[in-house]
Amino acid sequence: MTTDLYCVMGHPVAHSRSPWIHGRFAELTGQQLRYDKREIATSDFARGVQAFIEEGGRGCNITVPFKFEAARIATHISAHGLLAQASNVLTFKDGQILADNTDGSGLVADIERNAGLPLKGLRLLLIGAGGAAAGVLGPLLQAGPAHISVANRTLHKASELVARHLALAARQSTVLQAHTLHELNESFDVIINATTTSLSGAGVPVDARVLKPGALAYDMMYGPGAQGFMNWARAHGAVPRDGLGMLVEQAAEAFLIWRGVRPPSGQVLAELQAVIAGGH
Ligand code: ATR
Repeated sequence: MTTDLYCVMGHPVAHSRSPWIHGRFAELTGQQLRYDKREIATSDFARGVQAFIEEGGRGCNITVPFKFEAARIATHISAHGLLAQASNVLTFKDGQILADNTDGSGLVADIERNAGLPLKGLRLLLIGAGGAAAGVLGPLLQAGPAHISVANRTLHKASELVARHLALAARQSTVLQAHTLHELNESFDVIINATTTSLSGAGVPVDARVLKPGALAYDMMYGPGAQGFMNWARAHGAVPRDGLGMLVEQAAEAFLIWRGVRPPSGQVLAELQAVIAGGH
């Protein structure tokens, strides 16, 4: 049996957990593959992809800062990729580059399956309107919440993101609105931080009045950077959750696309939590 080659491409990727996650998926499903890290210079993304294809690469995960460019260089793009205008999964097949986006389905799977909270009928607040928020809004709408507010420091970016999703929101009978961070006077069942504030240490970008008692407060970051948001959520009576489960679930969706097999993502998440708790 040949060993198929995959990788994660980004800048930086040194600390990426993706090789470990895909390695465990492969072991647990009996798939033969190798999964590397590829650090790509910021101006070299298209060349990096081409070189990887020439090496025999079958697919790659894309991380910061290349998700928008990944969608642009694709020859085919999935519906989720098109709505997000960004891609975190490329598949190379018959000379084509297929782009998909599994960040949103990964987030929804982590909230609904791993955290045990079905989103149908709930009121959601999505904070941010950059690439991370764009990647998840479509799948959040498809989960059928009653309401999604998208709040961003720069209103016009939230308005553009909302406008692109209005037709889907209407089909789902979900109320979808854009706001600035300061005009949020209502409270929500689930709030999702999709800004880079945890990465930059800028502090929580919204007032605690957005939290209903017992709300789920989700930061798409994970690791030490997310701790400030998690502490804030706990201090205000919310249930905090970081983005580690989303990382594992978006990887599971990518693995399914590439290999046609759904890996046991819940088990791998529990293993990864144990590895991290052990300081590795
Ligand atoms: P990513 O691809 O990770 O989403 P991005 O596209 O640069 O990164 O988007 C960053 C997001 O974090 C944006 O929503 C940004 O708000 P603006 O659109 O107003 O720039 C948000 N953000 C970054 N720093 C912030 C801060 N200090 N307070 C509030 N929002 C912030």
